[in-house]
Amino acid sequence: MKVAIIGANGQLGTDLFEVFSRDPEFEVIPLTHKDLDVTVLDSLEIFKEIKPDVIINTAAYVRVDDAELYPEKAFAVNAIGALNVAKVANEIGAINVYISTDYLFDGEKGEPYTEEDIPNPINVYGASKYTGEIFTRNYSPKHYIIRVASLYGQAGASGKGGNFVEWVIEKVKRGEELRIVEDQFMSPTYTKDVARTLKEFLELGPEFGVYHMVNEGFCSWYEFTRAIFEILGWEVQVKPIKSNELNRLAKRPRFSALENKKLEKLGLKMRPWKEALRDYLKEKGYL
Ligand SMILES: NC(=O)c1ccc[n+]([C@@H]2O[C@H](COP(=O)([O-])OP(=O)(O)OC[C@H]3O[C@@H](n4cnc5c(N)ncnc54)[C@H](OP(=O)(O)O)[C@@H]3O)[C@@H](O)[C@H]2O)c1
Repeated sequence: MKVAIIGANGQLGTDLFEVFSRDPEFEVIPLTHKDLDVTVLDSLEIFKEIKPDVIINTAAYVRVDDAELYPEKAFAVNAIGALNVAKVANEIGAINVYISTDYLFDGEKGEPYTEEDIPNPINVYGASKYTGEIFTRNYSPKHYIIRVASLYGQAGASGKGGNFVEWVIEKVKRGEELRIVEDQFMSPTYTKDVARTLKEFLELGPEFGVYHMVNEGFCSWYEFTRAIFEILGWEVQVKPIKSNELNRLAKRPRFSALENKKLEKLGLKMRPWKEALRDYLKEKGYL
């Protein structure tokens, strides 16, 4: 199977490239922002030469607060970019995999969201990704919308300048106080686990549609931070705060945990978030 990865040097893209290239069943074509710009339809002509069976689109404008200031930039990449990729995928008959987010839910459900729940984004980033989903669904019938959440990976998000785990570790090393929100819950997810599961998923070739793909369980950002230092065995003071103390530009859903309901029906399992976190810290050389 020939798989082209858009955003192959991003946080998720890096692990996708590594995991897929290790399997001889896959021919992997890594594409970076230098190779193409999803906001420019002409630059996607390259797919007509590559002729992949699958296009995995990880390209995104991921800066949630900046998206409130520059909605046109977020929509250009996350929505128009998705539309362009969907058009090209459809034209060449490729399966279109659009990576989406938990942030398209409003967080009011109070229990993990399944694929049947109706999105209701409360910030620009979420709205732009949801629009990307709609374009993906309606312009490329052969599609998978894969919703992930709160990603951390060895490469760190290029768009965010790192990931949360590294950010808190660096803060502790600098001797800075850790004030972390205790009233926002999510499903922290290791990009390597998404990459492995997405490969198995494509091998299975299930029905097209939306799928949640996160490490199992959920926690608050405060609990996540405590878990990082518990695993590392470091004595660190973490101060729990409320999200309104941060004065951030974008509203965040207060509870955006996802349940992998459809994935489990396929017999695919993602491991619990704490197990994945331990492995990440080990692979990063902290343990
Ligand atoms: N990070 C999270 O916590 C999180 C949570 C939920 C969902 N997601 C979704 O997961 C996906 C991957 O996120 P990530 O953490 O891996 O982000 P990332 O590290 O910022 O990766 C995004 C990649 O897309 C590329 N890109 C950006 N704009 C592009 C454009 N116009 N044309 C082509 N390539 C472009 C970036 O390249 P440059 O850096 O060179 O521009 C980068 O390689 C995204 O769809 C995101 O919405 C992420």
